[in-house]
Amino acid sequence: PVPSPVFSAAAASAGEVKTAPNPLTGEIARRRTFAIISHPDAGKTTLTERILRAGGAIQMAGNVRAKGERRRTRSDWMSIERDRGISVVTSVMTFNYGGCVFNLLDTPGHEDFSEDTYRTLTAVDCAVMVIDAAKGIEARTRKLFEICRLRDIPILTFINKMDREAQDCFALLDEIAEGLALDVSPATWPVGRAARFVGTYDLRTKTLHTTEELPPDDPRLAEMEEECQLASAALPEFDQESFDAGHLTPVFFGSAMKEIGVTDLLDALVAFGPPPRAQKTETREVRADEEPVTALVFKIQANMDPNHRDRMAFARVCSGRLTRGMRLKHVRIGKQFALHTPQFFFAQDRQLVEEAFGGDVVGIPNHGTLRIGDTLTEGEELRFTGVPHFAPEILRRVRLDDAMKAKKLRQALVELAEEGVVQLFRPQDGAPPIVGVVGTLQLDVLQSRLKAEYNVPVGFDSTPYTLARWVTGDPAALEKFTALNRTAMADDLDGDPVFLASSGFMMARAAETNPDLAFHDIKQIG
Ligand code: G4P
Repeated sequence: PVPSPVFSAAAASAGEVKTAPNPLTGEIARRRTFAIISHPDAGKTTLTERILRAGGAIQMAGNVRAKGERRRTRSDWMSIERDRGISVVTSVMTFNYGGCVFNLLDTPGHEDFSEDTYRTLTAVDCAVMVIDAAKGIEARTRKLFEICRLRDIPILTFINKMDREAQDCFALLDEIAEGLALDVSPATWPVGRAARFVGTYDLRTKTLHTTEELPPDDPRLAEMEEECQLASAALPEFDQESFDAGHLTPVFFGSAMKEIGVTDLLDALVAFGPPPRAQKTETREVRADEEPVTALVFKIQANMDPNHRDRMAFARVCSGRLTRGMRLKHVRIGKQFALHTPQFFFAQDRQLVEEAFGGDVVGIPNHGTLRIGDTLTEGEELRFTGVPHFAPEILRRVRLDDAMKAKKLRQALVELAEEGVVQLFRPQDGAPPIVGVVGTLQLDVLQSRLKAEYNVPVGFDSTPYTLARWVTGDPAALEKFTALNRTAMADDLDGDPVFLASSGFMMARAAETNPDLAFHDIKQIG
C-alpha cells in the first residue's frame, strides 16, 4: 500500500526531504470524515447523539431529533421531509474532539432512500459499523458493509447494547470475521456483562474506563483480564495498513445508551482514523494536500425556506483551502461559480464558513446550478467519479389530471430529479415522463412535494417496464437499436439513453442480440 499522502507530506516537512512545508498538512491531518452504518434499531441514532455530546455539540442530554426514521409512519415521514430544517441540519454534523475536526455524515435509516446512502458513502473516509450485541450482523449491516468494501472504506466496529443480554464476545467476533470476511482486532474489551457491564479496557492504551470504581478483587476484572489474554493470543493485533485498506476492523464494545465505550471510539478515530483520502477523477487522483481547491457535490437538498426554490448542495472539499467569496469553476457547465455563503453544519445551527479543508463538507446554497456529481475546481478540467446512479427497481408513469400544468410538471420533475428524489426518464416517443425509484416511499415523497411546493397534484400509473438499463456502445449500433425500440427508449436527466424492458428475459435478449452495445445497471455520474 502507498503511504498516506498526508503523512508522507508530514515526513517531508519534518525535514526528510528539503522542500517547503505544505501549509495544508496540519489541517488535513486532523480532519475525520465518517458515517455510521447499521441495521435499524442497532442504535445509530443513540450513538450519534452520544458522539455529538462527547464532541460538545449538544450541551444537554436529550434528543437531537425524533426517533429512527424506520419507526416513523408514512405521514410522519412526509411532514419531516417538508420540514426541511431537520433533515438539512442532520445531514452533516461537524464538531471538534481531541484536536480533530469531525464531519459526521448522516445516512437515511429507511432503505427506500438507499441511493442517498450510497452517495453519502462516496464522501466519507471511514465508517463506523454499529452491531447489536444480541443480534449480531443483520441484513442491512451486511449490505452497507459491502458498499464500503467496494470502495475500500476502512471500518470501525461498535458492538452496542452490551448493557443487555448479549452473545458471547468471541462468538460475535467470529461472526464478523467469517460473515464479512474481515480480520477483527478487539480494540477494547468489556468489563462485566449485561446489568453488570461497567466499562471497557482499552487494549491499545492499556487503560480502564469504568463508570464506577472497582475494587482490585472485583471478579469482573479477573474475567476481563483472562479474556483479553485469550483474545490477544487468538486474534490479530491492530494493523494500520490493513485497517486503511479495509481488510481489518478494530472492534469496540459499549453501550450507547449508558455512554460506555463512546469516547474509546472517538479517541481511536483521533489516533488512527484515516485523514482525508485521495479522490478519483476521470483522469487522475486528487490528494487532499494539493493546493488548488477542488470539491465534489454528493448530495442536494431543498433548502429550509419553502418560499424560495433554493437548494443546498453538499460538497466534500477534496483538496486545498476553500474560503468564502472564492470563485470556482463549475466544470460541467464550464462557468465560474462564486461561493458567497458556504455553510458549515455545527450540529444544530449552521454557521457561515470562513475556511474549509480537504475532508470537510460544506453546504453551498444555489438555485439549481449544482447537481449531484458536479465538480468544482480552480480551473482544472477535472471530473470526480464514484457517485453512482443505480438502475431503479420501480418504474411509474406520472399522471397529470390538469393538462394546463404539463409545463410546470416538467420543470418540477427536473428539479426534483436533480435533487435525487427520483430518477427521471423522458420517453423518446414523447409519451408522459416516467419516474424510477428504488423504494416506493420515494414516490410518496415526490407526490407530496409536487403538491406542496409546486401545486401540481399527480398520480402514478403502472408501466409495462420492470427494468431500466443505460445503453452505451458503437454509435451506429445504438442508433439502429434505438430506431427498432423507439417506444422502449428514454433519455435520463443528462440526456443519456436508457432502455426500458418489461422483463429480465427481454433485457437478456436485447443484450444477446446486440453484442456491440452494453447495458449498465449502474451509471457513474460526475
Ligand atoms: P437506530 O437509529 O439504529 O434505529 O436505533 P436507535 O438509536 O433509535 O435505538 C433503537 C433502540 O435501542 C432504542 O430503544 C434505543 O433506546 C435502544 N438502544 C440504543 N442503544 C442502546 C444501548 O446501548 N443499550 C440498550 N439497552 N438500548 C439501546 P427504543 O425502546 O426503541 O426507544 P427508547 O424508548 O428507549 O428511546
